Amino acid sequence: MSKPVVLVTGANGEIGRSLLQKLHAEGRYRAVTVDLTPLPERYRPLCLETYAGNIMDKYLLDQIAAHHEIEVVFHLAALLSTRGERDPELAHQVNVEGTLHLLRMAQNQSGRLGRAVRFIFPSSIAVYGLPSVEEKAKAGKVVEDSYNVPITMYGCNKLYCEHLGRYFTQHFRQLGALSSAARLDFRSLRFPGLISADTVPTGGTSDFGPEMLHAAAKGEKYACFVREDTKIPFMAMPDAVHALMGMLEADRAKLTDSVYNVGAFSLSAKDIEQRVRKHFPDADVTYAPDAVRNKICDSWPEDLDDTRARNDWGWKPIWDVERAFEEYLLPSIKKRYAKE
Ligand code: SER
Repeated sequence: MSKPVVLVTGANGEIGRSLLQKLHAEGRYRAVTVDLTPLPERYRPLCLETYAGNIMDKYLLDQIAAHHEIEVVFHLAALLSTRGERDPELAHQVNVEGTLHLLRMAQNQSGRLGRAVRFIFPSSIAVYGLPSVEEKAKAGKVVEDSYNVPITMYGCNKLYCEHLGRYFTQHFRQLGALSSAARLDFRSLRFPGLISADTVPTGGTSDFGPEMLHAAAKGEKYACFVREDTKIPFMAMPDAVHALMGMLEADRAKLTDSVYNVGAFSLSAKDIEQRVRKHFPDADVTYAPDAVRNKICDSWPEDLDDTRARNDWGWKPIWDVERAFEEYLLPSIKKRYAKE
């Protein structure tokens, strides 16, 4: 039997590129990708087929579905939180309508195959909205069902799409002809800010972490857009991919919910500066907080309680803060910029 096909949207983004490498290295799936921008040459051999196009284009999605028996969807395409505040309607279109298109496609595909297509959806700390920095400090690690009052369009979109996914899995067309058809199997992870040694994110509000690190490695000045004491959870990119694969392989019967926090470590901007300075003592880091972006980070939890993921499907991060910086981020980043 040929290997099952996974569809990766937003494949050219930060998570997408790392995921493609992992899927290829593991060799159990064949990846079909879609992204607005064409995948760089070096990623194409990792894929069965690549499409450059918009997830808003239903015809493109139908065409992809007609050509491949898609068993798994990793729906990574999204407009992040800062970008979303600059253009909230576009964020809604891409993040909500785009997701709806993908859910519809995966649902049709499940019916056609007669079995549940697994739909893996990265959600975010942005679904939380802590009312004040005092409350945030008091709350510490937050559980999934607390503080679900996001203050960004992106956070609202992610929270709603978590519900949409659960709806498609459990209740889609409950009164209609599809009431007994195979439904898709939606699983969502709430990620912290992600830090990769290979790429710098664009349009996010947790970006101050990776931006500071990459700027120091390149010998560039960095004016941090949040206060030194601003603290949010972070995760190294290899752990994000590890979590996605863990979520994909989890035994459905053991899942008590469709939404899971996944945590790794929690750092303030100053903590990141100190970690970076150990390796780049001359790093030129200053603080020029942007009131709105800081407010967004202040509304995000300091850390995530991921007990549910640990209990249900054995989630455990591989990269704690020490290993993430000393064994992954700093060595890889030094090598990367030394080459340029
Ligand atoms: N990294 C995202 C952002 O900053 C949060 O999930 O928008």
